[in-house]
Amino acid sequence: ASVKTVKFIKSAVNPKDYPPPHFPEIAIVGRSNVGKSSLINAIFKRNIAKVSASPGKTRLINFFLLNDRIYFVDLPGYGYAKVSKAEREKWRRMIETYFKVRENLSLVIMLVDSRHQPTRLDIMMKQWLESLDIPYVVVATKADKLNQSEKAKAVKTIRKVLNLPENIPVFLTSSKEKTGIKELMGYIFNKISE
Ligand code: GTP
Ligand code: MG
Repeated sequence: ASVKTVKFIKSAVNPKDYPPPHFPEIAIVGRSNVGKSSLINAIFKRNIAKVSASPGKTRLINFFLLNDRIYFVDLPGYGYAKVSKAEREKWRRMIETYFKVRENLSLVIMLVDSRHQPTRLDIMMKQWLESLDIPYVVVATKADKLNQSEKAKAVKTIRKVLNLPENIPVFLTSSKEKTGIKELMGYIFNKISE
């Protein structure tokens, strides 16, 4: 399960612009600035998704293709304060449509910041995924900013605040130090070959 080829396919808002659903698809969600685009780059081992220190960088649904057999989707983040009500509504509709119509969606990777408790919006996202019956895992990002004891505590807090069922794994990752990526990829490859 190594990285052979990586392609940016396209950006889209509406289903008519999504690429054909020929491969299993993994989508990445989480609040703005949590590290979604950085995780894609860490998985792909190159700087293919745009990363920015200021939140709200990713505005469209971005489709990538790994090894000509798995789509990875970088979704725009939520919870960025400086966004108008109309834009938030646009985001909600774009994501809801994607979740509902994308037939090849195999797994959602939900990112939360390992340094903080999951937010109210994170809790809502988790409940949204469950209500739509979409398989998901949780990734706690930026683990390089934690010491050993904080790492253990972070995963416990996330499980508790999100009220995660036991069968949903939490992966602690650092895109900066490339830790936890192999474990996450192992789970993903397993999941899509089920
Ligand atoms: P939006 O597209 O705005 O929703 O953000 P995003 O979730 O795609 O976040 P992005 O990957 O652009 O990263 C946001 C900031 O966090 C950047 O400054 C990254 O360098 C930083 N960052 C991301 N991952 C890590 C990590 O594992 N460790 C550290 N220390 N910083 C990280
Ligand atoms: Mg992004």
